Amino acid sequence: MKKTNFTEVYSKIAELVRDNHEDILIRICELLKQEVYHYDWVGFYVLYPEKNELVLGSFAGKPTPHTNIAIGKGICGQVAESGKTMVVQDVTQVENYISCGLEVQSEIVVPVMKNGKFVAELDIDSHSPAPFTVDDSLFLAKVCDLLADSF
Ligand code: SME
Repeated sequence: MKKTNFTEVYSKIAELVRDNHEDILIRICELLKQEVYHYDWVGFYVLYPEKNELVLGSFAGKPTPHTNIAIGKGICGQVAESGKTMVVQDVTQVENYISCGLEVQSEIVVPVMKNGKFVAELDIDSHSPAPFTVDDSLFLAKVCDLLADSF
């Protein structure tokens, strides 16, 4: 697997944020998918508290039928509940998992917190087995911090 220079990718994202592009979230999804070898599907789910569910916003990769996810359901719904990053290195080992395709082997979901409250999350699926390290978690947490005001 190709090693990612997360510092370089973060700089590119920070540049997009600085330029204040209207379509910033979709551009970030595309950039992450393109720049990081083991990111095969990248998307943002946004919390709709009145419906008690997450709704898919911008994404890059294959369209998914799971555009609405109830809080507590799947990995996404669990992160919405806990407000904590979840790393699943092997999706077949998880019971409360919503499959988006047989090719997906692993997944990381990182919360976007705004003023201490969960507002959205960044969901990444990988076709590689156990590809995520602490570098992914730290990098994606920084990206989500940078983007909090976009939600
Ligand atoms: N696998 C997720 C559902 C969303 S798809 O990965 C795009 C889950 O278990 O919540």
